Amino acid sequence: MILSLDQGTTSSRAILFNEEAGMISQGQYEIKQSFPRPGWVEHDPEQIWESQLAAGRDAIAASSAPADSITAIGITNQRETALIWDKATGTPIYPAIVWQDRRTAGQCEELKAQGMTGEIAEKTGLVIDAYFSATKLAWILDHVPGARERASQGELLAGTIDSWLIWKLTGGAVHATDVTNASRTMLYNLHERKWDAGLIEALRIPPSILPEVRMSGGDFGAADKQWFGADIPIRSVLGDQQAALFGHTCLEAGSAKNTYGTGCFILMNTGTEAVASSHGLLTTVAWGMGDELYYALEGSVFVAGAAVQWLQEGLGLIVAPADSEEKASEVEDSEGVVVVPAFTGLGAPYWDMYARGAVFGLTRGTTAGHLVRATLESLAFQSRDVIGAMEKDAGMPLSGLRVDGGAVRNNLLMQFQADILGSEVTRTTYAETTALGAALLAGLTSGIWTREQLESFNKAEKVFSPQMEAEERERRYNAWQDAVSRTMGWEKH
Ligand code: G3P
Repeated sequence: MILSLDQGTTSSRAILFNEEAGMISQGQYEIKQSFPRPGWVEHDPEQIWESQLAAGRDAIAASSAPADSITAIGITNQRETALIWDKATGTPIYPAIVWQDRRTAGQCEELKAQGMTGEIAEKTGLVIDAYFSATKLAWILDHVPGARERASQGELLAGTIDSWLIWKLTGGAVHATDVTNASRTMLYNLHERKWDAGLIEALRIPPSILPEVRMSGGDFGAADKQWFGADIPIRSVLGDQQAALFGHTCLEAGSAKNTYGTGCFILMNTGTEAVASSHGLLTTVAWGMGDELYYALEGSVFVAGAAVQWLQEGLGLIVAPADSEEKASEVEDSEGVVVVPAFTGLGAPYWDMYARGAVFGLTRGTTAGHLVRATLESLAFQSRDVIGAMEKDAGMPLSGLRVDGGAVRNNLLMQFQADILGSEVTRTTYAETTALGAALLAGLTSGIWTREQLESFNKAEKVFSPQMEAEERERRYNAWQDAVSRTMGWEKH
């Protein structure tokens, strides 16, 4: 068996997989979200640890199998969220600052003003943004009294959530992270494959507090037997979006996955080449295995499932998100209605923080069905925007899209996604692709599975093939792009 620990933004989950990668049992606990000031988001690191431990114990107890029959642990986690703790006592010196937290936007503006945009993009593959870990760590060091001094005396350790869990599980024996999590800090040099001395200095992070960077499929020590009843080796660590890519077995360059959550996270494997983006995408590590790093291009859509929530809570057009398919099916098509849900500006490839949402093409005949359908279609259009940018950056066409997340149960949306992309969309048997990805990599690293076997595990449950005529596809997509262009800069009025 493999135990997968999946520490996400809203919950800590644990899933136990058998030797055919079938799910045996699971445990799950919600995580409290704290918003101490506008734009701030924090988590309690002790709650993260305790809930993750409890979820793991629940999964093991529910399986009624002995803990020593677990071959390995795989860890996957919400990325970028960062914390600092006392090396001697293990006590965090401040809550974990979550990836969504915007408190360091000002520092990021300063870095841009210092002309660091090019250097950071070239070295880390990232755009300067408060999203990434580095400025969060600097903020904690600057705001907790005495922290910088204690760091210089070697009393503190820093890390992303993976490092925190590894350190706790190994009883403080291992302070490490993996290459995927490192690549989200804005401190990791993708080409030299190490913490970048120049960036560490520019961002004022004492090198002694940073974890050692290891391959995602590797040796991260063992979870001490006090936690699960046996010493269990930790054999994979990777960020949750990368784990989903692995769980979909997108192992070849050109393969991609889209996770439909509040927003959409789209990653495309680009193989052993770190492809620089000229369309506002991120270059990131997909995973490290053996001696090789594999890379991905990543693009995010800010508002996806959140637009369906808006239909429910903001407009009252549906009672629950699952009703959206039925409501949208009341009409044959959107009859020219286009919804652009740019509620918080637009991400890749537009990057316009002043864009705002709009509805186009209303007539006296427009019904709730048309609005719901057009809103669902906007998820697919936005995904095509990102995938189109990926294809241009990577210089290779998409070889099919694999999908997961809540909205993939919506057949109407998935069919429209295939139609508007002009390529197949594959929904797989596993709903828990993230946890599966960490388990598959841990199993591969432990030598219990071969790469060929992995591909047979996560089978296609349903493949959506494009049915729309090419001409119609381009006409619809052009209308979408025209609508988007009209929403840009709106907030400045
Ligand atoms: O980059 C943030 C991402 O890793 C969070 O994912 O699934 O925990 O919301 P999730």
